Amino acid sequence: MIKTINIKQENNNIITIDGPAGSGKSTIAKMLAKELKLNYIDTGAMYRAITLLAIENKIDLNDEKSILGIAKKSDLKFDNTVEDIDKYTKVLLNGKDITLEIRSKKVGEAVSIVSKLSAVRKYLVNLQREMALKSPSVLEGRDTGSVVCPGAICKIYLTASIDERVERRKKQLCRNNQSSLEDQIKCEIETRDKIDSSRNDSPLIVPDGAEVIDTTCMNIGEVFNFIKDIYIKKLKSVKN
Ligand code: DC
Repeated sequence: MIKTINIKQENNNIITIDGPAGSGKSTIAKMLAKELKLNYIDTGAMYRAITLLAIENKIDLNDEKSILGIAKKSDLKFDNTVEDIDKYTKVLLNGKDITLEIRSKKVGEAVSIVSKLSAVRKYLVNLQREMALKSPSVLEGRDTGSVVCPGAICKIYLTASIDERVERRKKQLCRNNQSSLEDQIKCEIETRDKIDSSRNDSPLIVPDGAEVIDTTCMNIGEVFNFIKDIYIKKLKSVKN
């Protein structure tokens, strides 16, 4: 049985960043983690890792019981010690580095199915809370401020126009020496937005009390400073 960790209470050591695909969550979360010396928890990478596990073990992606079974037997960890910002977090599954593999097309296409499974979500949410309680953390994903850590002191919801998000994803693919047609990227992002926002369990929503930031016309430095200021103000207000 999974022991449920309660993390509803106020927590001054946690920042959550949620938002749709391509809104800049990862870049900002990594920058905050580095600057503020926080542990970085990429919850999307965890759904991707379990999806990879299901694919490798040839388990039907809707077979909740088998996927949960294999997830529970696995050892999923982050290594946050890499200096380079782009490679900041290494994802280790049973000791193997799967950082690149979880970004593959086959995992990207399957992860929306696996992340709909309630038992898998419950298991990963618990793991995420366990990690977040170990040391001050920034969590990034779709439900980190609404479900995983609703008591976080600083909850951010990042968004941007669809065209801007497509452009960012295109540049990211280019940096990774991958290419994709603009229409194809747009279609993939819109499909993921729809699935993430409409699923029954923990859909993508603006968490209660979150600051909504539309980053369409902002550069990364501006977004970063804006969030850092919000966090510092919130910390000051609880200390006074
Ligand atoms: O952020 P990402 O693209 O790596 O996330 C991959 C998928 O995982 C995304 O389409 C939805 C799912 N996900 C989720 O359901 N809940 C989270 N907290 C994070 C990601």
